Amino acid sequence: MSNKLNTLSAMWLLIVFITAGCNDSTPSEPVEDTISFSNDVLPIFQQHGCSSCHGGEAGLFVTTVQGLLTGGDNGPAVIPGDSENSLLIQKLSPEPPFGGRMPLGGTPVPESQQTIIKEWIDEGAKDN
Ligand code: HEC
Repeated sequence: MSNKLNTLSAMWLLIVFITAGCNDSTPSEPVEDTISFSNDVLPIFQQHGCSSCHGGEAGLFVTTVQGLLTGGDNGPAVIPGDSENSLLIQKLSPEPPFGGRMPLGGTPVPESQQTIIKEWIDEGAKDN
């Protein structure tokens, strides 16, 4: 009788143990604190067709970090650490300092995506 009880409580303990173990191993969402050019920024350019006008043979290239740092006719499109003064961001705003709002003739880039690009610039415009 008492043997049977012991076995039962041992099994119960085992179940509690396993369940607790499962809870412990629940993966916590990894916090992404660094914006990646290739994973986060480039897809935005591709989605809005920037690369079809700025990925050619002359002028501004938005498809590489180096291309953005070199810039186009009006100099560097990106100033690492300074999104506010970066031409890339200014050209996405409703009132760019010159010319048209990018993407030219297209739907404006949503604020949420502009924020991602800004953060990437403010994190140093890394080629990551
Ligand atoms: C339909 C073609 C077209 C598309 C799409 C387009 N652009 Fe442009 N972009 C231009 C032209 C033409 C100019 C030069 C005239 C002007 O500044 O308005 C320009 C100028 C720029 C400049 C200024 C470069 C310089 O040094 O003068 C930046 C920065 C820029 N574009 C970024 C972008 C980004 C980012 C996107 C996507 C969100 C984009 N463009 C989409 C045609 C395009």
